Amino acid sequence: MKKLLYITANPKGLEKSKGLKIGEAFLEAFQAERPDVEINRIDLFAYNFPQMDADLVSARGKLAGYGYTLDQLSDPEREKITKMHALADEFITYDFYVFVSPMWNLNSPAVLKAYIDNLFISGKTFAHTANGPKGLLDNKKAIHIQTRGGQYIGTPMQELESGDRYLKIALRFLGMAVSDTVVAEGFDLSPHRVPELLDQGKRDARAAAKEFAKELIQV
Ligand SMILES: Cc1cc2nc3c(=O)[nH]c(=O)nc-3n(C[C@H](O)[C@H](O)[C@H](O)COP(=O)(O)O)c2cc1C
Repeated sequence: MKKLLYITANPKGLEKSKGLKIGEAFLEAFQAERPDVEINRIDLFAYNFPQMDADLVSARGKLAGYGYTLDQLSDPEREKITKMHALADEFITYDFYVFVSPMWNLNSPAVLKAYIDNLFISGKTFAHTANGPKGLLDNKKAIHIQTRGGQYIGTPMQELESGDRYLKIALRFLGMAVSDTVVAEGFDLSPHRVPELLDQGKRDARAAAKEFAKELIQV
C-alpha cells in the first residue's frame, strides 16, 4: 500500500492557521483521487525528534568520517544517532510527502529545518558518487504548501524568500520529484481579503492535489 506523510510546522493549530486549513483541503482532494493511499501525520511542534546537538554532531562525524562503529560511540551519541536513523528509516517508507509551513522571517519555522537535518544521511538518503552527491529517494514525490503575510510573487521581495526555496533544494538533493509549491500570500496586508485569499489557496491546493495524486512516471 502506498503511503503519504503529512508534515506540518505551525504551532497555531487548525482553528487559527490559514496554511493548515489549505493543507486539509489538499489532503481531502488527494484522498478523493487516491483512496488507496494511507495518510499519516506529523505535527513538528508536537513531535519529539533528535536535534543536531553536540552528541549528534560528534556521532555523525565519527561514523561517517572516521569509520567508528555504533558500539564505539558514547551512550548519548549512540542513543541519539540510533533515533535519527530510525526517523529516516521510517521517513523512507513513504511515497508521497506534503509539507505545510508559514513563512517566518523570510524562512520557515526552525523546527522544519531541524527535522530535515535528520534526513541527510550519507548511504541512506543520498550517496557520494564519482560525479558528486546523488539523492537516493528518487521514487518519491513531495510538495510544499506555504502561507505568507506579505506579497512576494511578482515583487522585488521574491528573491528574499528562502524557506520554500531551501525545502525544495533539500528534497531535490535527496532525489525526490518536487511539485510546484502551493503559495497563499498577502494574508497580513489586507485583513478583509483573508476569506478570499483562503478560498483561493484551497482551490489552488485542490488542483495541485489532483496532479500530485498521479503516479510518478520515471523517464
Ligand atoms: C514569527 C513570524 C514571522 C513572520 N515572518 C514573515 C515574513 O518574513 N514574511 C511574511 O510575508 N510573513 C511573515 N509572517 C506572517 C505569516 O507568514 C502570515 O501571517 C501567514 O499567513 C501565516 O500563515 P498561518 O495562518 O498558516 O500561520 C510571520 C509570522 C510570524 C508569526
